[in-house]
Amino acid sequence: MEGGWLAGGRLLLCLTVHLLLQGRGDTFTINCSGFDQHGVDPAAFQAVFDRKAFRPVINYSLPTQVNISFTLSAILEVDAQLQLLTSFLWINMMWDNPFISWNPEECVNINKLTIAAENLWIPDIIISESMTVDKTPPGLTAYVSSEGRIQYNKPGRVTSICNLDIFYFPFDQQNCTVTFSSFLHTVDSLVLGMDKEVWEITDTSRDVIQTQGEWELQGINMATPTMSVGSHTYDQIIFYVAIRRRPRLYVINLLVPSSFLVAIDALSFYLPAENENRAPFKITLLLGYNVFLLMMNDLLPASGTPLISVYFALCLSMMVLSLLETIFITYLLHLATTQPPPMPRWLHSLLLHGTRATRCCPTVPQKGTKGLDLTPAHLPGNKEPVELVGTVPDPREAELRGCSGSTVARQEDEAQKLQLVGLWVQFSHMMDTLLFRLYLLFMAAFVITVIVLWNT
Ligand SMILES: *[C@@H]1O[C@H](CO)[C@@H](O)[C@H](O)[C@H]1NC(C)=O
Ligand SMILES: *[C@@H]1O[C@H](CO)[C@@H](O)[C@H](O)[C@H]1NC(C)=O
Ligand SMILES: *[C@@H]1O[C@H](CO)[C@@H](O)[C@H](O)[C@H]1NC(C)=O
Ligand SMILES: *[C@@H]1O[C@H](CO)[C@@H](O)[C@H](O)[C@H]1NC(C)=O
Repeated sequence: MEGGWLAGGRLLLCLTVHLLLQGRGDTFTINCSGFDQHGVDPAAFQAVFDRKAFRPVINYSLPTQVNISFTLSAILEVDAQLQLLTSFLWINMMWDNPFISWNPEECVNINKLTIAAENLWIPDIIISESMTVDKTPPGLTAYVSSEGRIQYNKPGRVTSICNLDIFYFPFDQQNCTVTFSSFLHTVDSLVLGMDKEVWEITDTSRDVIQTQGEWELQGINMATPTMSVGSHTYDQIIFYVAIRRRPRLYVINLLVPSSFLVAIDALSFYLPAENENRAPFKITLLLGYNVFLLMMNDLLPASGTPLISVYFALCLSMMVLSLLETIFITYLLHLATTQPPPMPRWLHSLLLHGTRATRCCPTVPQKGTKGLDLTPAHLPGNKEPVELVGTVPDPREAELRGCSGSTVARQEDEAQKLQLVGLWVQFSHMMDTLLFRLYLLFMAAFVITVIVLWNT
């Protein structure tokens, strides 16, 4: 008898517990019987709105999963001096609110509702790199589905700190991070997940970005390391946004004009050294280059030393060097034609050797005929050989042939001096050619180095 009573009691208890549990489940189901008459009855959601201050979970030891994704809709500015990237993001978040659920069949087939976001609990997701206060526009709404899934999207102009490296300046790529994490909730109460695959984010962003500005989106990667601060662990998702500069503007405005000026400077070595035009020409070029640098200065990044600055400095140095070379050669030529210093023996024999080597016909060189043989007419860069040195004394020499011994001696003196002048002039031209070749060699090495560096 007693056993039967006990069994009945147990049954009753089970039934009560079952009913209780069912009742609890029902309290979270929204009664939407009044939905169709005057739209949605606000009283039906009042219980949910009243709970918005608390994280919506039934069991507080379970974390809320928030799935996030974003669309990069514009790259507005990259500030190399402040190391800031300003971009425009549409951030999407999705999470479950177990206190919201209704039966769509009872509720005139409403599956989804929009609710003003201020009435709901919103996770405190921030972008760690952001350097400005979150300026979310007011009056945003969220989609709420009949299963309690909430979709909340917000736009945001994000000024995030980014480690910008401008060494390769017009051809640079930057890899900026955008880290989403909760400001307060540790991993015990909030975990992050991905709402979309990362390639989907990249593709949508590529489609959405309208601007044909300076920066181009290359790709987005992601990583999900947790972050530990003290004893707390925070969940986070790091997106690596790779962007590349479109270099066309800089190539057209900086590199092409600069290369032209340097090329003209190199070509001006073909102006004859005797002609007094070469130095003024080079000075004009140098002046032009300085004006160019002044005008283009605001196109360059305001901080750091990009390779292009080194390139400009080297171009300027090349032009200065070539001007110095011209001054040196002009001085040498002037010295040679007015008061030639005695020539060292080794230089003398070297010059004679050089002349013989460069001549095509081996029959020509005989020593002791006239100094004019050594006129460096064949050297490059010399269009008018030193005629005043060679041809002037010729007829006079013939006339004076039969005169006294002293005149003959003077004539021989003169001839020797002429020969010396010729040799010095030849030496100047050889120096000019040699220095020009060195200049070309140096320039080629420098251009190749810069191109190789820019290509890596
Ligand atoms: C829903 O509310 C209506 C009126 O407010 C009430 O008559 C009905 O019994 C309620 N339904 C449930 C399942 O609580
Ligand atoms: C809450 O969840 C934890 C972990 O899943 C579980 O051990 C515990 O029993 C749950 N509490 C309640 C009241 O359901
Ligand atoms: C979040 O993503 C995970 C895995 O993709 C999925 O299982 C879960 O249902 C999603 N949660 C929400 C609220 O979207
Ligand atoms: C950006 O940097 C991260 C980490 O250093 C790396 O994993 C990722 O591949 C880089 N992205 C690109 C496009 O270089």
